[in-house]
This record gives sequence, structure tokens and C-alpha cells, in this order.
Amino acid sequence: MTVQNQLEPISIYIHIPFCVSKCAYCDFISHRVGDFEINGGVQTYFNALEMEIALYKELLHNRVVRSIYIGGGTPSSVDGKYIHNLINQLKAYASFSNDIEITLEVNPGTLTEDKLNHYVSAGVNRISMGLQTTNDQLLHKIGRIHSTNDFITSYEAVKRAGIGNISLDLMFGLPGQTLLDIENAISLVARLAPSHVSAYSLKIEEGTPLNESYINGQVQLPDEELERDMYHKLISGLKEIDIHQYELSNFSKYGYESKHNLVYWENKPYLGLGVSSHSKINNERFANTNLIYEYSDMLKAGKYPIIQKESIDKSEDLFESIILGLRLNKGIALHELNAKYEIDFHQKYKNAIEVLIQQGLIEYDDHTIRLTIKGMDLSNQVFLRFMED
Ligand SMILES: C[S@@+](CC[C@H](N)C(=O)[O-])C[C@H]1O[C@@H](n2cnc3c(N)ncnc32)[C@H](O)[C@@H]1O
Ligand code: SF4
Repeated sequence: MTVQNQLEPISIYIHIPFCVSKCAYCDFISHRVGDFEINGGVQTYFNALEMEIALYKELLHNRVVRSIYIGGGTPSSVDGKYIHNLINQLKAYASFSNDIEITLEVNPGTLTEDKLNHYVSAGVNRISMGLQTTNDQLLHKIGRIHSTNDFITSYEAVKRAGIGNISLDLMFGLPGQTLLDIENAISLVARLAPSHVSAYSLKIEEGTPLNESYINGQVQLPDEELERDMYHKLISGLKEIDIHQYELSNFSKYGYESKHNLVYWENKPYLGLGVSSHSKINNERFANTNLIYEYSDMLKAGKYPIIQKESIDKSEDLFESIILGLRLNKGIALHELNAKYEIDFHQKYKNAIEVLIQQGLIEYDDHTIRLTIKGMDLSNQVFLRFMED
């Protein structure tokens, strides 16, 4: 395919809404894969995805794809051929950049040699694996299907398959979790030496079993001070092993920052495919249905599975660029922001800047604005302050 490259490069997210079973804390759109396999529901879903990709044939034509992120759910809970076919279909419609990053989310306990072979031949070059904690009792309590040893076995299988760029997910603030648990997790990271780590503070999501147990007083969460101590321990402990924080929840060896996630934080265009996915292209934001049957039915009827669409005006886009850009440790390059939105940042946000500097929440000079360590702990407060202006 000839690359005319007149259009801005794009990134693609594909949602795979299946898991072996649901974890107690998770409210991502996903269903038990076993329930769908028995009635051909997995095949139906991938047929629908194929139809959705075909609807975007024009949009993808002449576009360079810089990253693809296949997430979920658990993409590794389905046969590897589905993932292989998806990537092949995209390859036929768009041009992949030479340094394209193709990430696949996998869950320990779901990988086989056959699946890994499919991923490698399709071009997957980055794997993101959920570990969450190295405390096996805690893993069980939060509904994970694997132990720490299962994680290590899967991690090594990925490396043996030739995919060296591996990211690992950790969680902190889990019920009963201690600082020692965090230290143990860092020790395992040091031993495995992945290129990237994501560390998420537990969010109690409405409608999840964990929320229920929390409301009923069956589980206790670490208090705010301990939760922040865990976060700071992760930042310093990972730094000691050369894994540096580059975003509020993300850490990497130098040069291994996630290209795909940087697209979100740098407020660049992305296309979301699959149930519950979101897109932002050409100053428009749109969201697909969260309902898996509705998703397939709309596509079978030749319709886009979009249930919400809105245009983004320049001031809203500017606000998004600020709150997303502030998530990054490098902060925001002010000359770029000024040029993109035709503003004088210093003038426009004079009041906010003054207050936030006084509160010790931001570092600010003529070229850059970024959060301080205190600002990272109170990031929502900073974001709200910019909303007021
Ligand atoms: C979409 S999940 C997919 C990963 C894969 N299915 C797995 O669990 O191994 C991505 C990550 O989000 C994080 N996550 C999910 N629900 C969360 C919650 N309620 N609070 C904080 N982090 C959460 C977990 O670390 C999880 O690994
Ligand atoms: S955390 Fe991962 S495996 Fe667990 S329910 Fe959510 S998407 Fe599925």
C-alpha cells in the first residue's frame, strides 16, 4: 500500500470483552468467556469486529497507524486466531508505521504456546500482563485466577516466545495490603526486569462485588496515608531499579514509555473499536455501546455501533490537553500549547498558576508546567483549578 501520509497518524484501541472470570474490583466491560464460547458468542463478536473495521476502511485508507492496543477484558482468553485475523485485517486497510507498537493485554493462566505463536506472527511486539500483587492470599481474595508463580511462568513463556517488551500491572490500596506487600512486589519486578510497569490505586467501582463487601464492612481498605505511602514506595523503589515514573500511574525503563498511552496523554487522535470503546478523531468524540448483543446487532444491520457522539470545541480541547498533559512527569511544553490553541498560557491562567505555585502543587517556568510530588497526590485539585478559569 502506498503511504501518502497527508493525514495525521492514528492509534487504534480494540476491546475484547471476555475474561475467564470476573475479578471482584473490576468494572471493565467483560463477560465470562465460557458462557459465550458454548453458543458461538465469541465468534459472533469477532465477526462484528470485522464488520466494524470494514466500516472504517475509508478513514484508515492513507492513514499511518502508529500503535494498536488490544485490551479488555482479557484478549488472551480467546483463541489466538481471532487476534491474528484482527491484526491482519487492519494491515490490509491501513499502513503500519515501521516502528509500530502492537500491545496485547494478557492474563496469567490463559497463555498457551499456540496463542503466543499467533501473537508473534501477527506482529504483537508488546505484552501487558496483570499481576496486581505478589501476595497469593490477596490475589485469591480479589478474585484473580492465578498465583504469583503462575504469573512468573506466563512471563517467562512470553519472553521465550521472543516478546521482550513486557509491561506489568500492579495495584495498591487493596484490602489488607501492607507496605511489605509493596516491597515484595518491587522485589519481583527487580528480578523479572520488565521494561514497563503500571501501578494503579484501587478504585472502588459501583456495582462490583468488592464495593458490596466494602459497604457491608466485610473488607477494610488501607487509610489514605498508607495508600499514599504505598504510592511513594512504588515511585522510589522502582526508580532504584531503573524503572522511572513518566506518568501518574506509569513507569518504564528509558525509551520504553508506552507509545499508545502517550497518544491519550498528548491528546492525539485514536480510534476505538469493539464494545464500550471510545474514539477521538477530527474534533469529535464518540463512544460505542456497552452492550455486547446490541454491538453485534447494530453491525449486522450495517450501522456504526456508536451511541454517543459530540464535537469538541477548542476551549474544551485545551482543557483536556492541560489535564492530560499534567499527568506526565515531563509536563506540558508551553510553546506547543500556545501555538496549537493560539493562546498566551501565562496570561490566560495567571490566577490558577499563582494559587497552584503558592500551594506547592505545580512547578512552572517560561517553557514548562508540571506537577510537583505534592501535586501528584492532589492532582484532581489541580485539574479542578484549571477548570475554573
Ligand atoms: C483492563 S485490565 C486488563 C488486564 C488483564 N485482564 C488482567 O487483569 O490481567 C487493566 C488493569 O486495570 C487495573 N484495574 C482494573 N480495575 C481496577 C480498579 N477498580 N482499580 C484500579 N485498577 C484497576 C488492573 O491493574 C488491570 O490489570
Ligand atoms: S481485571 Fe482483567 S481479568 Fe479481572 S475482570 Fe478485569 S479485565 Fe478481567
